[in-house]
Amino acid sequence: MRLRWIGLLGLLGLVLVGCGSQPEEIIVRGVTYDTKQMAQGQQIYAQSCASCHGANGEGQFPDAPNKPDGTGRIGAPPHNGIGHTWHHGDEMLIRYIREGGISLTDPVNFYPMPAFGDQLSEDEIMAVLAHIKTLWNDEQRTRQQQATEAGG
Ligand code: HEC
Repeated sequence: MRLRWIGLLGLLGLVLVGCGSQPEEIIVRGVTYDTKQMAQGQQIYAQSCASCHGANGEGQFPDAPNKPDGTGRIGAPPHNGIGHTWHHGDEMLIRYIREGGISLTDPVNFYPMPAFGDQLSEDEIMAVLAHIKTLWNDEQRTRQQQATEAGG
């Protein structure tokens, strides 16, 4: 009986944590994005990013993210809280999306991360980032904001 209560409390905790991670506003580079703009970012994400980074940001190889596969290359990393995207500040992430990844110079060890500067406007890139930030929890968002302020 007691076990069942603990299970129920755990479930309630999960639901509460889940609610906490659906923010009304997201800040990118000091600009506030509302839920409508986040939804636009989600659409761009679905069109341009999800094929590699996963529909929910789970990464190309969710079972072994950031590990080389049979070809010896590392795939698209997760953007959700499990990944390390939230360790980087806004400028770094925006530049990465605009100009492409390390794979452009090291295609042997990484699957390609294309540059999106020709396809997406700066506003669209920021909206995508706003959407990616909804995949993190409050603490991760706060820490990422600190990285942004530190210029990281
Ligand atoms: C063709 C597959 C592919 C597509 C499409 C793609 N990516 Fe990537 N992305 C990768 C790979 C592979 C890496 C890791 C290798 C590297 O860094 O070059 C990566 C790395 C990244 C990184 C740096 C790692 C991190 O999490 O901090 C960011 C940020 C990123 N991608 C964002 C995006 C966004 C946003 C889009 C959509 C606009 C996108 N990517 C579309 C394959 C892709």
